[in-house]
Amino acid sequence: MRGKRLVVANLKGGAGKTTTTVHLAEAIARRHGACSVVDLDPNADGSATAWFTLAGTAMKASLVSEPSGDGWVIYDTPPWSASVVNVAVKSADVVLIPVRPSGLDLSRLAAMTDVVVRAGKPPVVLVNAAIAGTTAQRAAREALDESDLPVMQTWIPQRQSIQNAYGTGPASEALKFYGWLLDELEEALN
Ligand SMILES: Nc1ncnc2c1ncn2[C@@H]1O[C@H](COP(=O)(O)OP(=O)(O)OP(=O)(O)O)[C@@H](O)[C@H]1O
Ligand SMILES: [Mg+2]
Repeated sequence: MRGKRLVVANLKGGAGKTTTTVHLAEAIARRHGACSVVDLDPNADGSATAWFTLAGTAMKASLVSEPSGDGWVIYDTPPWSASVVNVAVKSADVVLIPVRPSGLDLSRLAAMTDVVVRAGKPPVVLVNAAIAGTTAQRAAREALDESDLPVMQTWIPQRQSIQNAYGTGPASEALKFYGWLLDELEEALN
């Protein structure tokens, strides 16, 4: 079966694009044997490229400059360029938009989903760094329920295991959450 092509995008910086890309790629690679990551963010520090370089053989997913074959691919994108996002989105099966559950971040969401919709692809919101039982999380759920946006049911929590993963092969606790996200994606995309 052909793997899916995912793009992780949000023009808002720090939403968790690179964190989502690397963890989800690793969850896919451990389930399906391989996953390619294409890093479209030229920032050297804190990028998926730097993460893979630091992690070395701890990572089962692989960083590639051009995807080949029909395996799973995830594109990480920079925060500042709708045109880079547009290029990546062209070949995407789905565009995941990580967003933090805060009023400020959610207020910028429609601008981002518009970019994806204009490119003719389905945008799907992924709530990232959620903290259970907080006002912020409840407010985010209400705001997203009121919007017409498709939202992944899996919310990625804020966790030290995720925050500390940079430059390492992700921890098993972190991978559990991204495994649930992958379950949901596979069900939606197959
Ligand atoms: N679920 C999470 N739990 C804890 N920390 C998180 C989580 N998601 C992201 N972070 C942290 O938030 C910060 C920003 O994450 P990341 O660099 O992945 O965002 P980004 O959208 O790729 O940023 P940029 O727009 O600069 O490329 C990092 O310090 C990362 O470790
Ligand atoms: Mg990034």
